[in-house]
Amino acid sequence: MNMVDTFEKTPVKIFDQVKDGAKYVAGEIAALIRKKQAENKPCVLGLATGSTPKSTYAELVRLHKEEGLSFENVITFNLDEYYPIEPTARQSYYYFMHQHLFNHVNIRKENIHIPSGTVEKSDIKQLCTDYEAKIEALGGIQLQILGIGINGHIGFNEPGSSYYSKTRLVHLENSTRIANAYEFSSMSQVPRLAVTMGIQTILKAERIILMAWGDKKSPVVKEAVEGLVDEHIPASLLQNHSNTEFVLDQFAAADLTRNKSPWLAGDVEWTPPMIRKAVVSLAQKVSKPILSLTEKDYRENGLSDLLTEEGDYYQTNLQVFYMMRDSITGWPGGKPNVLLPNPPERSEPYPKTSLIFSPHPDDDIISMGGTFQRLHDQGHHVHVAYQTSGNIAVTDEFVTRFMDFVVGFEQMFAIDSTISENLLNEARAYLKEKKTNEIDSPEIRAVKGLVRRCEAKATCRYVGIDDDNIHFMNLPFYETGTIEKKPMGEADIEQTVALLRKIKPHQVFAAGDLADPHGTHKVCLDIIFEALRRIKADGDEWINNCWLWLYKGAWQEWDISEIEMAIPMSPDQVLKKRHGIFIHQSQKDSVPFQGSDSREFWQRAEDRNANTANLYAQLGLTKYAAMEAFVRWHY
Ligand code: F6R
Repeated sequence: MNMVDTFEKTPVKIFDQVKDGAKYVAGEIAALIRKKQAENKPCVLGLATGSTPKSTYAELVRLHKEEGLSFENVITFNLDEYYPIEPTARQSYYYFMHQHLFNHVNIRKENIHIPSGTVEKSDIKQLCTDYEAKIEALGGIQLQILGIGINGHIGFNEPGSSYYSKTRLVHLENSTRIANAYEFSSMSQVPRLAVTMGIQTILKAERIILMAWGDKKSPVVKEAVEGLVDEHIPASLLQNHSNTEFVLDQFAAADLTRNKSPWLAGDVEWTPPMIRKAVVSLAQKVSKPILSLTEKDYRENGLSDLLTEEGDYYQTNLQVFYMMRDSITGWPGGKPNVLLPNPPERSEPYPKTSLIFSPHPDDDIISMGGTFQRLHDQGHHVHVAYQTSGNIAVTDEFVTRFMDFVVGFEQMFAIDSTISENLLNEARAYLKEKKTNEIDSPEIRAVKGLVRRCEAKATCRYVGIDDDNIHFMNLPFYETGTIEKKPMGEADIEQTVALLRKIKPHQVFAAGDLADPHGTHKVCLDIIFEALRRIKADGDEWINNCWLWLYKGAWQEWDISEIEMAIPMSPDQVLKKRHGIFIHQSQKDSVPFQGSDSREFWQRAEDRNANTANLYAQLGLTKYAAMEAFVRWHY
């Protein structure tokens, strides 16, 4: 029995990996271009910008370069452009399209249409009318590519946009400006206005493909696909279009009923993790502790099938309760000399060698500071590997303050300060002239990296770790000086393999941000996965006893029903962790590229750890002040 259609009102295609989804979409675009070529007709495409379509454009460029796909007959219309903005600005969509697609394929200049960000305000109406007329004159858009904003916008049609809207000037919502702030050095630089095609303009396309990647998009994807048609979720209006498809990766699709509550959407195999997922979500839905769930609760919430399979509902309650209970331990390295029935970590060997990978210089303390401290206090050999320098997140003011300190220090002790004075003066002069978003000079980047290294070292000393156990990797993929990073490279992997081989850990902790294809954390994780895979393939003996535990980065937490190891924290441990996070002074108060969450890192960490503890308590388990959470990854 498959009841996916009962929930999903627009066709959906789900891929494990972004690259496969992007290949699929690029393949469809290429097929259309070729079909039109064969008919001697133009191919009219509607194109989007943002992080989502980048991989699709990269694949189109590859198809052009390696498989001879010609763009000779292609005519493009972009959805939108900031207003006002110069086409030469790195953040303009004009710049984006040329950088990611147009400069690398044989499209004719005159066939490219992007709303102008530079016309006089009084001319915008005319610009919009002309844009619509041009599309119409070419017989309309044949294939429209879309991304989706976390508020459900398509193009820049923000919530509340009329179903009948056409190309026009719009105000950007604050949430959109925040979401896009990562491209600008600060929020105030993000334009407040944009020119966008309207909902009607989009709906007139013959075919529409909306792509979404990563878990940040999963709630809005669910609303757009399964919710009501509502102008407050503009993407839901696509339900009225008869030839639209949503192309998602597994993370963007995670909240769809078929994934979130698969027992409602069709037959499922009742494995222990599935039973746990179903019962925990039932308990949360009816707001009851697990052991208070009744047979009626199961029946009324689509779990009759589980009852039929498992028999006694109370046994199922107990089974799930024990699973949750067994995930809680104060011994992240295993409890030595004690035989517990189902501990998350092995008691032997003791002590263990633990290696914590921290993508940025503060993720260790932010995301697993309590566990880090316990591992050390319980006598394990703890190493920390800082994967990237984190240098772009240090402000200019902060870096000059430190250079100033060095000059003052040298003068105080009558050390020749001419070199540092020169460096400081050069840096000041450079930063004064630096344009918004210009890349820092290598010297300034190096000093910014040093600032963060010193903070990380201070944190390790605070926890009690020896300097010999601190490893700064400065992985090369990160060192572009901009938000845009290089993909994982051979050098990154080799360096990681070498470190793992040197330390030979019994357990590895890594930031398990599996989604967000362009994020630093994801690349850092991919590098670890690949390094472990290679070591395993080479047959190193120790790797068979090396367990991989994933924590989540600063932004979110594991779903409660997935957690395999929950480390409780006392109120004192919460405070100790807070002070450990405070050591990262360059990341306090105001940080460049803060993203959409204005809370400071220590606040996020405390909210999240308290929340996990509360969720456990609501399910009927012991109430702790806070908890850090991990999932074991089998590689
Ligand atoms: C861009 C556009 C927007 C984006 C949306 C998602 O041309 O029209 O609707 O598609 O804001 O942005 P990303 O892909 O950066 O998450």
